[in-house]
Amino acid sequence: MEDVKYIDIKEDFQTVNEPLCIFNGEVSIKPFLKWVGGKGQLLSELARYVPKKFNKYIEPFVGGGAFFFYLNPNKAVISDSNEELIATYKAVRDNVEEIIKILMMYKNEEDFFYKIRSIDPSILSGSERAARLIYLNKTCFNGLYRVNKKGQFNVPWGKKKSDFLNAEQLRDSSDFLKNVEIVHADYAETLRNYAEKGDFIFLDPPYYPVGKHSDFKRYTKEFFYHEDHIILKKEFERLVKMGCHVVLTNSDHPFILELFKDFQIKIIETKRLISSNPETRTGKDIIVVG
Ligand SMILES: C[S@@+](CC[C@H](N)C(=O)[O-])C[C@H]1O[C@@H](n2cnc3c(N)ncnc32)[C@H](O)[C@@H]1O
Repeated sequence: MEDVKYIDIKEDFQTVNEPLCIFNGEVSIKPFLKWVGGKGQLLSELARYVPKKFNKYIEPFVGGGAFFFYLNPNKAVISDSNEELIATYKAVRDNVEEIIKILMMYKNEEDFFYKIRSIDPSILSGSERAARLIYLNKTCFNGLYRVNKKGQFNVPWGKKKSDFLNAEQLRDSSDFLKNVEIVHADYAETLRNYAEKGDFIFLDPPYYPVGKHSDFKRYTKEFFYHEDHIILKKEFERLVKMGCHVVLTNSDHPFILELFKDFQIKIIETKRLISSNPETRTGKDIIVVG
């Protein structure tokens, strides 16, 4: 593969050392949800590409928000196309005590799990909806989020002991989310509405599949296809031209390397945490900096 550039830390980037967050003096926290593609392992690497100064932080494929909770930026917009996820963030921000009360009544038992799973979340209050997602996320098999074609959560019970309620962590998350704009939207809409010159934008889309065992992960009812990566690259270029600092992650696939060949790329080896197949448990991620 020609033309792949490896980045060094540039002068206008700073390193954020765990666990202290330099932006508002508070300590970073771990995400309260386990999410496919969670960025836990890449944090110290990603932290090398945080600009010294920026206006606001935007993460439009937020998922579990590992990097957001790590950075704890002063001003932020987080968004995702997963409606349940976004409803949960809003409820944790606005009604955390109510969510804790509901979770205190829940049990990690097979019958109870399937009863909660079978509930249509659209008939629930915001707090009940969030409690349901947090509970299912912590007690289901491998902490996976997967839905069927009708959008119904379909991961089986995890059969393991699980502390599905961590009240302190939820309260801390609620504090972190207090001044954050939380949006349910397609990434392109969020960027169109919020991105401005001087913003720091982290793009962590569903990864391009690598290897014969991998498949497009079903995060929501919709997939993220080959063409979507091409459109995302155009958006990346638009943001860079506009004067935003943009960092993108994806898999180490020749198509992605070729797509971003005009930008600086760094390849990093990581372990895939959510995979039942040992062959797909390790892989390489790339970081593109624009
Ligand atoms: C790789 S995950 C993000 C992981 C996250 N950075 C973390 O640390 O947990 C990708 C996320 O993109 C969301 N997503 C997929 N297609 C999207 C789209 N077109 N617009 C916005 N979000 C999308 C999925 O719901 C999923 O939460």
